[in-house]
Amino acid sequence: MTDKAKFWNRTAAKYALQPIANEAAYQHKVQITASYLQPSMRVLELGCGTGSTALLHAPRVASILATDVSSKMLAIAQQKAAQAQVQNIEFRCAAVEDLILPPASFEVVMAHSLLHLLEDKEAVLAKAYDTLTSGGYLITSTPCLADWLNWFRYIAPLGQALGLLPLVRFFGQAELLKSIEQAGFVLQYQWQPENDPRAAVFMVARKC
Ligand SMILES: C[S@@+](CC[C@H](N)C(=O)[O-])C[C@H]1O[C@@H](n2cnc3c(N)ncnc32)[C@H](O)[C@@H]1O
Repeated sequence: MTDKAKFWNRTAAKYALQPIANEAAYQHKVQITASYLQPSMRVLELGCGTGSTALLHAPRVASILATDVSSKMLAIAQQKAAQAQVQNIEFRCAAVEDLILPPASFEVVMAHSLLHLLEDKEAVLAKAYDTLTSGGYLITSTPCLADWLNWFRYIAPLGQALGLLPLVRFFGQAELLKSIEQAGFVLQYQWQPENDPRAAVFMVARKC
């Protein structure tokens, strides 16, 4: 087991039982995502967790490669897919940093609640860009912690050292957008629930 997987393997069962924090916001993101999907599309999901989002979108697309560093998260996701008799999702256990992805192979890359957990989000955004076809979409929902919880960046390393927290990076919306644009994407849509600066920021960006 890699170090990156440890925290998530330990918390997978609990994570699977947690209700969605803001159901209305989640449904809005599902609906916007669905508006970009077509039956011929190949979708890559990075950090798919217990697979809920992949399972929702699977009927709308040709295939989904759902990846995650945590084998325990994926075991739950696979069980849910089997129960729902969804057959067009392939699950792969790998850290996004180690994934080898052929260029121009997916029309959509999704990464939800993941970019703030990466040591080098820019490298992962570059990887997403390369593996997308021209005109393909990056769809991401990301906690932008520097915008409302910046003080916590000084305490987080202690929580990480004690194994109570995963690696977490503190950046704001503006920095996230800059990184996405610097990777070569053009922003199509940006949304955060009104009056909720703590909520994850949803972005759709296009490889032009
Ligand atoms: C907060 S959960 C989000 C799960 C799911 N995307 C969702 O929105 O419910 C973060 C997920 O990212 C995965 N993860 C964390 N670091 C990762 C990495 N470096 N590579 C791949 N997956 C990673 C974790 O195992 C976990 O399943």
